[in-house]
Amino acid sequence: MIVLGIETSCDETSAAVVDATRTIRAHIVATQLEEHQRYGGVVPEIGARAHLEKLPQIVSETLRQANLGLEDIDGIAATAGPGLIGGLIVGVVFAKSLALVHKKPFLAVNHLAAHGLTPRLSDNVEFPYLLLLVSGGHCQLIVVKSPLHFQVLGSTMDDAAGECFDKTARLLNLPYPGAPRLEAVARQGDAERFRFPRPLLHHPDPNLKCSFSFSGLKTAVRQSVSQIDQLSAQDISDVAASFQAAVADILASRTSNALAVCKELQQPLTAVVVAGGVAANQYLRGRLQAVSEAHGLPFVAPPLNLCTDNGAMIAWAGLEKLRLGADDPLDFRATPRWPLQDLQLPGTVRN
Ligand code: KG4
Ligand code: ZN
Repeated sequence: MIVLGIETSCDETSAAVVDATRTIRAHIVATQLEEHQRYGGVVPEIGARAHLEKLPQIVSETLRQANLGLEDIDGIAATAGPGLIGGLIVGVVFAKSLALVHKKPFLAVNHLAAHGLTPRLSDNVEFPYLLLLVSGGHCQLIVVKSPLHFQVLGSTMDDAAGECFDKTARLLNLPYPGAPRLEAVARQGDAERFRFPRPLLHHPDPNLKCSFSFSGLKTAVRQSVSQIDQLSAQDISDVAASFQAAVADILASRTSNALAVCKELQQPLTAVVVAGGVAANQYLRGRLQAVSEAHGLPFVAPPLNLCTDNGAMIAWAGLEKLRLGADDPLDFRATPRWPLQDLQLPGTVRN
């Protein structure tokens, strides 16, 4: 079984061909760094136009590199949500057209599910596993039970972890894309210099054990930075390190709570996995590894190029759906909002 996957939900135009043996036959990721750099963030309209311009060539080049024609492909997958609607429409319409012309199944992939299933592509992780999904728009703890069954234990009440990284990086005048640069400068910083808050860490409400909040942290960082007259390189590194330590404390403590909840519920788990763009952060990976080991579970984090947005995860998630006979009708619409809880609603699960 071989699936072509297309990702256009944000600022990467990407295509990949992946097979059932978990081999990535070809994979191209074109970032829109240059298009958005001068604005300091992603501009949706510019992004959608860039996807439209680049996608046809990226798909044909991916197939060429895989040495395959569309007749060899068993299914065509595209991110159908959540994400920026202009880009999503470009990818979904392109994939549906290919599916229609070549009489192949079309697979509408949920972007969050694709991040969450990536550790199965990279490390063959078995269901059920605990997933910490940390991206630019989401922060959730989830028990992944099947390609279509994601049990959400807790989510963020305000911002996502990635968004918080991006805003802090901007506050520190680090150039776009800020998060990887923030991580780099934090290596020279003193994480003890600023004692930023860890919202919800000791909150007594048991229903908030697996929830996240980052807005108080964001405000505290802004206040500290505004009190410094002229930010020196050392100040920037110290704020970055103190901020990163606070985020990691929040994420590690919530993950530990989620593992305790699973134990109480007698929910078996094969592993703890982290996915989404923030999972690229090495410091965070180290902290999560320690939490997993303390609970006697293996820790899995996909390779860096599969953490941030990419077509291989879309092809893989499409392949997982195709194996279940869960391909989608050609009137399936791209949707900017598509919570994981609704995964089983659209589409046609046949078995
Ligand atoms: O999954 P992703 O590529 O796109 C979304 O689906 O949102 O995640 C993007 C997020 C960005 O907000 C960025 O801040 C974060 O991933 N990110 C990082 C790092 N690299 C990317 N956060 C922390 N450390 C990094 N090295
Ligand atoms: Zn993503």
